[in-house]
Amino acid sequence: MIAKQIRYPGRKWLKHVSLWSDPLLREYLPDTMLFTPKNFIEMIDKYTVLFLKPDLGMKGKGVMKVTHDKDDYIIRTASCTHKYRSKKHAALKLKQLIKDKRYIVQQGIDLIQIQGNPIDFRALLHLKPDGDWRFFGIMGKVAAPNRFVTNHSNGGKAIRLYTALGVTKEDGQEWYKRIKEISLKIAAAMKEHFPKIAELGLDIAIDTDRKIWLVEANTKPQYQLFRYHSNPRLFGQIAASVRAIRSTSA
Ligand SMILES: Nc1ncnc2c1ncn2[C@@H]1O[C@H](COP(=O)(O)OP(=O)(O)O)[C@@H](O)[C@H]1O
Ligand SMILES: [Mg+2]
Repeated sequence: MIAKQIRYPGRKWLKHVSLWSDPLLREYLPDTMLFTPKNFIEMIDKYTVLFLKPDLGMKGKGVMKVTHDKDDYIIRTASCTHKYRSKKHAALKLKQLIKDKRYIVQQGIDLIQIQGNPIDFRALLHLKPDGDWRFFGIMGKVAAPNRFVTNHSNGGKAIRLYTALGVTKEDGQEWYKRIKEISLKIAAAMKEHFPKIAELGLDIAIDTDRKIWLVEANTKPQYQLFRYHSNPRLFGQIAASVRAIRSTSA
């Protein structure tokens, strides 16, 4: 099993199942199933918003948002909106859009917003030679207007943690500490399941009740967002650390 996991750490479903096996992490993980029309119906009966994502996707590609509002089931893709009066018809449309690809269906998190645009966060960690994780920091990402993904490649823009949360710098420090603590727990669990990983970019969400969630754990993360970090030297330090890690693992 482990050998198989090392080969496929990109897969969202496998990462979810691995982290879910740790009871201490479950409270941070949105409810997730593999997509089938039947699983979709089970999930839409439980949650008013769902996210459907390709198992092997990245950069927000192929992500869909489904909203259940009274009698309407609304499917949003990057380019289209489809509206149905029954969950069965919505499930069939999703099946038609997804075809034979592997997708996950996930509880939607009601992300905090700024001027109506959702925000989530990227926490960045690297494995140090002594086996501990170095936590570099956290940056927010605001979705472009009318987008439901915050990825940079979809127009997402960098924002600092305390600005995103609308709190003072002191309160921002408290949030930083909480997110760092949770990120280190997630990193330890990821390392146990995927022993070869040395970099982690965690997509962390904060919902409107200010609860922290893990949306996904990236094992070869981009770090461009950190160009906008309040510490102007941090980006260079991350770049150097990435070079060191990737040169030894190549
Ligand atoms: N369950 C969710 N609830 C709310 N927003 C989500 C959820 N899942 C994904 N998103 C949004 O979509 C973006 C892309 O999803 P993610 O799981 O990070 O996939 P990708 O590998 O394409 O980056 C996230 O950064 C977030 O903005
Ligand atoms: Mg992501």
